[in-house]
Amino acid sequence: MAAMFDLEVQHPAELTRVTVKLNVCAEVGELLRTLIGDGRRLQAVVITDERVGELYGEVLLESLGGASFVTYEHRLVPGEASKRLAVADTVYRFLADHGIGRDAVLIALGGGVVSDLAGFVAATWMRGIRLAICPTTLEADIDACFGGKTAVNVPGGKNLVGVFHQPVLVAVDPMCLRTLDSRDVRAGLAESVKHALISSESFFAWHEDNGKAVVSLDEELITELILRNLRVKASIVEKDALERTHTRMLLNFGHTIGHAIEACCEFELRHGECVSLGMLAACRLSVALGLLKESAVTRVEALLKQFGLPTRLADRIEAGPILDTIRNDKKVRGGAPQFVLLENIGRPVVRDDVAESRIREAYESLLA
Ligand SMILES: NC(=O)c1ccc[n+]([C@@H]2O[C@H](COP(=O)([O-])OP(=O)(O)OC[C@H]3O[C@@H](n4cnc5c(N)ncnc54)[C@H](O)[C@@H]3O)[C@@H](O)[C@H]2O)c1
Ligand SMILES: [Zn+2]
Repeated sequence: MAAMFDLEVQHPAELTRVTVKLNVCAEVGELLRTLIGDGRRLQAVVITDERVGELYGEVLLESLGGASFVTYEHRLVPGEASKRLAVADTVYRFLADHGIGRDAVLIALGGGVVSDLAGFVAATWMRGIRLAICPTTLEADIDACFGGKTAVNVPGGKNLVGVFHQPVLVAVDPMCLRTLDSRDVRAGLAESVKHALISSESFFAWHEDNGKAVVSLDEELITELILRNLRVKASIVEKDALERTHTRMLLNFGHTIGHAIEACCEFELRHGECVSLGMLAACRLSVALGLLKESAVTRVEALLKQFGLPTRLADRIEAGPILDTIRNDKKVRGGAPQFVLLENIGRPVVRDDVAESRIREAYESLLA
């Protein structure tokens, strides 16, 4: 199954071509050539990490070379620690040493760490050069590759420094997931459940029906899952490209408590695993506020378990540090945390009147 769609964001007026297709890495050169529409021998710089570069670097570089790009490759050390300014600086040095100019295109090949860092570099090198993204983790396929957010971490917190920079091309090869650790595949599925919960009951039911085949990376179904997720994200991002209104906030469902758990467990759990716990707590909070039926929470919990995602916090973290972290969250405005809650599966609602005692109860339900 192959498909593509275009997203036109409001401001700045930029178009991102999204292609989801088996072995698409081998076609990126031609795709970029067509999109850029410039016959000159342009520079193409692939930023990847050591692991992903070893697996998929060659095929991408060959494709770019075959489409008459002058190619360069720079590999980062895998892991979140590469998402910092000092590492961005090593990439700037690489670009300077090779005389990379304004017409160049920078291609991120890897998970969300690579695309956030490479995106940040592309947005800032010479005040912005073209960016393309070839995501290779499920987290990146369905979330990080798309929407234009780039970031690095600083000592004050995760993703605190960044800029919006829309890629010209997102090329997803679903089968890169075959080499990914299965724990990372499952963690990525948490974001898919999130997209379903904030968009449509039928997409949620699709997960219930196809869960097993999806976990085993059935080609057709995983391709469909990626496309459906990107469409959900596109429908939200095109209404609020620069996160100026409440619309894009919906994508934070499960992330307020999820991020607090992630910070407090010192990143022992995967991001998606924390989001799984955060979504369950947000569902229970929705029930406590009289918004959501208990039966919906039972369905959500069953699906998360089916995907092998955590629904309980084994390493007990007290509520105190979690609530402190939520208070300091960059998404907290005017003192009151804004929570994305559910009125039903597929029907999100933003509330800023949630008492801290309710948040505590919802969080503590994960320790029971
Ligand atoms: N910009 C956004 O909108 C956005 C959205 C979600 C997440 N993120 C960011 O994404 C980051 C997490 O990304 P991630 O979960 O993709 O982790 P990651 O980029 O760290 O990749 C996880 C590990 O998998 C390896 N890997 C990647 N693809 C592989 C493959 N196909 N086969 C084998 N190994 C592979 C990598 O080398 C790495 O060790 C976080 O920093 C998060 O903040 C950004
Ligand atoms: Zn997330």
